[in-house]
Amino acid sequence: MTEQDAKALAKTLEILIHSDQLDPEKWVNFPEFGLRQYFFWKNPATGASIALLEFDKGGHIPVKHTHASNQFMYCLSGDYEYTDVGLRLKPGTFYMNPKDHPHGPTIAHEKSILIEIYDGPHYYEKPVFHTDETIGGFIAGRTSPGPRWRASRPRTPSTRLPGAEGEGGGLGATKELTRA
Ligand SMILES: [Fe+2]
Repeated sequence: MTEQDAKALAKTLEILIHSDQLDPEKWVNFPEFGLRQYFFWKNPATGASIALLEFDKGGHIPVKHTHASNQFMYCLSGDYEYTDVGLRLKPGTFYMNPKDHPHGPTIAHEKSILIEIYDGPHYYEKPVFHTDETIGGFIAGRTSPGPRWRASRPRTPSTRLPGAEGEGGGLGATKELTRA
């Protein structure tokens, strides 16, 4: 982060994270499946999130499963396939799977890096490829009651950065907004 970035971020609620500043401690690891995940942002009140996914070559999600919200992916690099229907995400590909629509299994034909966005909680029940540690509170109806966000912009935002929510170790950076 440049000095200019640091000064700017001290005065705003906006977030800026460069890929070379990711905290190694904040990756959520799924070694059995050749996957790791880094949350750039999540809303503990709704379960919505934005994360970076990295699949090793051969990394995979082993089963068909359903999400409790709409899921969006954007492929930055690699070749990642939803094998049930043969959809392949390659660099520059946008993918969307609607809430409640089963998808998977998947396979990364080569190392694949994707942005993953959910507009709400990820799951109804913990799927087989998650553990209590990795699920990170992303089950519908079990998300944190969280803050009631102020409609107006607070005058003095805190600049507390990573790890605020402490769920699953997955928070890359979350600014603690002033709460109502
Ligand atoms: Fe999925």
